[in-house]
Amino acid sequence: MRHIAIIGTGYVGLVSGSGISDFGHKVICADISEEKIKVLQAGKIPIYEPGLDELIDRNTKAERLSFSTDVGKTIRDSEVIFIAVGTPQSENGEADISAVKAVAKTIGQNLNSRKVVCTKSTVPIGTGKLVMSIINENNPEKMEFDYVSNPEFLREGSAVKDFLWPDRLVIGTESDWGFEVMRDVYRPLYINETPIIHTTVETSELIKYASNAFLSLKISYINEISALCEKVGADVHVVAKTMGSDGRISPKFLHPGPGFGGSCFPKDISALVSMAQNKNVPMRTIQAAIETNAHQKKRMVKKLQVLTGDFSGLTIGILGLAFKSKTDDVRESASLEMVGSLLKAGAQVKAYDPEANTSFAEFYPQITYCKTWEEAVKDTDAVAVMTEWNEFRTMDAKTLKNLMKSPIILDTRNILSRKELQKNGFSFDNVGRPMETK
Ligand code: UDX
Repeated sequence: MRHIAIIGTGYVGLVSGSGISDFGHKVICADISEEKIKVLQAGKIPIYEPGLDELIDRNTKAERLSFSTDVGKTIRDSEVIFIAVGTPQSENGEADISAVKAVAKTIGQNLNSRKVVCTKSTVPIGTGKLVMSIINENNPEKMEFDYVSNPEFLREGSAVKDFLWPDRLVIGTESDWGFEVMRDVYRPLYINETPIIHTTVETSELIKYASNAFLSLKISYINEISALCEKVGADVHVVAKTMGSDGRISPKFLHPGPGFGGSCFPKDISALVSMAQNKNVPMRTIQAAIETNAHQKKRMVKKLQVLTGDFSGLTIGILGLAFKSKTDDVRESASLEMVGSLLKAGAQVKAYDPEANTSFAEFYPQITYCKTWEEAVKDTDAVAVMTEWNEFRTMDAKTLKNLMKSPIILDTRNILSRKELQKNGFSFDNVGRPMETK
């Protein structure tokens, strides 16, 4: 059993902290935000993530997991310190690592024994070296420490599962002791034969960006293919599925949609482009993926406009506000673009999301938020399905038609039955599939 500090109680910090305590270690999650820690100490979870409440509850009851605002003491009392603070996008597209630098300083000031310092936050390549030098500068006694980069590949909505059953672990370190300690931290995964990739710090830092950028490329690629499918009468799902049956391609992340969003892909790919630009290395494919994604979001607005004509004076129902299902996160969601365009063009918007009404209201307080999809579609001139929540998959076309003023629907996630919609006389569009069904 190791004593572990997790600094930062955001998404990555909370999931990693509770996951590592579940492995049997003693974990303190520390944050400078008194408000966040107070909420956690009261047994409440500040984010919506399936399975996280149970994981936190189980491990706090077993006294393996606790929360603290005393970051210095948490560092002094621990042998392994994970840096898990946010690295938001700054105005020039680069990642803002000021919080990482501040934590590195605090670690240096509180280094009272040999410790492993491990960065989990997604940080630009070279940050590891910077963290090491900040710790050294702030540690006059020159206490020894071992540095590790251990990026996280968690997806919102399945973060607990992704943490406890990862495809692989990446441990970037020049230190043998650091590597051994990390292997011990992840002992249950090691025993389960989860592949552990031992790399240098820089390689590990780049793996995270390269992975996210590649997944973004895949999505933008299939979204472009979907546009071509629409023009030539091909079915993008059959194309994607068949492409994916080639082992070299894999079917994952080939699902067409309204354009990707979230807290990671948009921020990380811009950061990668900026980093590469600083080294005079053009990232043409990734730049194209960014452009395609912005275009895909606009393309959805255009599709709705083709179905309805001028938006002015219409009432539009928006089903789904989160950037994907099973999260309340609306950052960079396609619904932001859609609702923004509708309001600008003079439409009224009625919206419903099972989890994200509140977070979306921070961006657009002026629209009507509904408690059910039935309420959101009632008396609307058209509806756009923007997020693939399960409850939208089972919406009955007849009920929809009866509730709406006119039967017009845009399905940006391809989750509705075209047959049913056609049978009920809907004017309808989706992404990359022909209207005619056999
Ligand atoms: C992503 C990465 O998957 C994860 O490894 C990383 O640590 C953080 O960023 P996340 O943003 O939670 O995770 O969601 P993800 O499931 O990857 O989806 C991202 C976006 O792509 C969503 O908007 C989703 O709707 C979209 N998407 C995903 C598609 O449009 N098509 C797909 O086939 C897959």
